[in-house]
Amino acid sequence: MALKVSLAIIFGIVATLISVALAAPGTATFYSSYVLTPPIHIYFAASACYGNKNYGVMIAAASDPLWQNGAICGKTFNVTCTGPTNPVPHPCTGASVVVKIVDHCPGCGGTLDLSREAFARIANPVAGIIKIDYRQI
Ligand SMILES: *[C@@H]1O[C@H](CO)[C@@H](O)[C@H](O)[C@H]1NC(C)=O
Repeated sequence: MALKVSLAIIFGIVATLISVALAAPGTATFYSSYVLTPPIHIYFAASACYGNKNYGVMIAAASDPLWQNGAICGKTFNVTCTGPTNPVPHPCTGASVVVKIVDHCPGCGGTLDLSREAFARIANPVAGIIKIDYRQI
């Protein structure tokens, strides 16, 4: 009994370590995190985690499987583009980007919905949706 319990705990710890250490594959889309109206008014879109607080533009919204009732809010991820999901060839810039989760993207088809700025750092926005590896840091 005690052995079974400790084995379960060890497996749990190992599984957690592996999931933290390895980058997970997924897909990413992008959204506009603010509204710019001429001449100089910028409205930050309200986020599900932080309301209208400004966390800059290196941000992302989590899809339903990652959202976990908001437990993911404030976590940072290193996101790398790994390839196209559609006929737009060679979308990846080769760079990676670190984003903070500030929002929920209910019904999002992709894994992460990046700000347009974060997406543009790792891929050509014309691609719209890309394959990614993401790792919590
Ligand atoms: C993000 O991941 C890439 C690819 O694995 C790596 O080269 C880069 O150093 C990482 N950046 C950070 C800030 O962890």
